[in-house]
Amino acid sequence: MSYSLVRPILFLGDAERAHERALKWLECGQRCSLARRTLQFFCRVQDKRLERQLGSLVFRNPIGLAAGFDKDGRIVPAAEDLGFGFVEIGTVTPKPQPGNPKPRLWRFPKEKALVNALGFPSDGAVAVARRLEKRRMATSIPVGINLGKNADTPLNRAHEDLCASLDILHPFGDFFVVNVSSPNTPGLRDLQQAESLTRIANSLLDKLTARGPRPLLVKIAPDITVRDLEGIVQVVTATRLAGLVVANTTTNRPLAPSAVFLDRGGLSGKPLFPRTQELVKQARALLGTEAILFASGGVFTGGDAAQLLAAGANLIEVCTAFVYRGPRCAAHICRELLAHLPKSPDKAA
Ligand SMILES: Cc1cc2nc3c(=O)[nH]c(=O)nc-3n(C[C@H](O)[C@H](O)[C@H](O)COP(=O)(O)O)c2cc1C
Repeated sequence: MSYSLVRPILFLGDAERAHERALKWLECGQRCSLARRTLQFFCRVQDKRLERQLGSLVFRNPIGLAAGFDKDGRIVPAAEDLGFGFVEIGTVTPKPQPGNPKPRLWRFPKEKALVNALGFPSDGAVAVARRLEKRRMATSIPVGINLGKNADTPLNRAHEDLCASLDILHPFGDFFVVNVSSPNTPGLRDLQQAESLTRIANSLLDKLTARGPRPLLVKIAPDITVRDLEGIVQVVTATRLAGLVVANTTTNRPLAPSAVFLDRGGLSGKPLFPRTQELVKQARALLGTEAILFASGGVFTGGDAAQLLAAGANLIEVCTAFVYRGPRCAAHICRELLAHLPKSPDKAA
């Protein structure tokens, strides 16, 4: 049955409860090999032209599940079965924390958008590490881990939180992302300023040197000026950061008129796409060709993904589109993307 027929029924209930239900189904399904094979049959798209390589990491396709859908690393094998080329779990905080009071997730179907004010509900790094260890053998796609500070940690000690989580989660991440851009943790976005970001980057990179190198990216907010972006790129260049994830949710509420009444939370989904495109172009121009650039924000179709790849993104991440397009979201986007790629992989080079 088409997801577009089922979606109005799924959308009748509370958004966060529906999300939790989806996670439970996927958790359950990934324990059963028949369910896994069925999902793989319907959701995986295999084509050499979709493959990407970044350093030693190989991606079957460039479409990943963005941070926020699987905050606690519960459905990594299912994400692979659903056809994603990689998954970024998190945001994980070092200590467990409940996040902000409910309600804190709202749908805006007219705009194909969501607003979330979750505020990093997290099982904490130790619980997430245990879960990832159990599931490691069941997964072959790259797994990124998005790290954030606890709500009660002062901003000037954020680097200690991030290092503590990195220490615990290091064996389970193929790459790491520092989240300094969620609008739902007071003051967090201030960590994008050069001095704070340099301290965070250097602390985490020292830790990675000691534990074993992995690509480390910074996820930035879409609500920054070109000047801010230039400052961030200078930090990326001056330290050995691998690159950027562009970008998180926005506080620019007028982008979705139905959501204007909500005075908290970050907006995601279709209205973000033009800004994502603009930021990817600016970021690539400033970063040069070597640094890694992930694009996230409003990607719904293979056409969207193709535009961002052409603008300089190496990989694409989706979150809201997964809610609106359903379980075959990655497969749809990959098939549509193929229509935008040259027929032979040689010509794509
Ligand atoms: C419900 C929800 C929770 C999110 N939680 C996180 C998070 O914990 N950490 C993070 O870096 N981004 C988080 N995001 C942002 C997404 O990873 C993504 O960057 C953003 O939603 C834009 O992409 P989209 O338009 O495809 O959703 C969240 C987004 C949503 C919708």
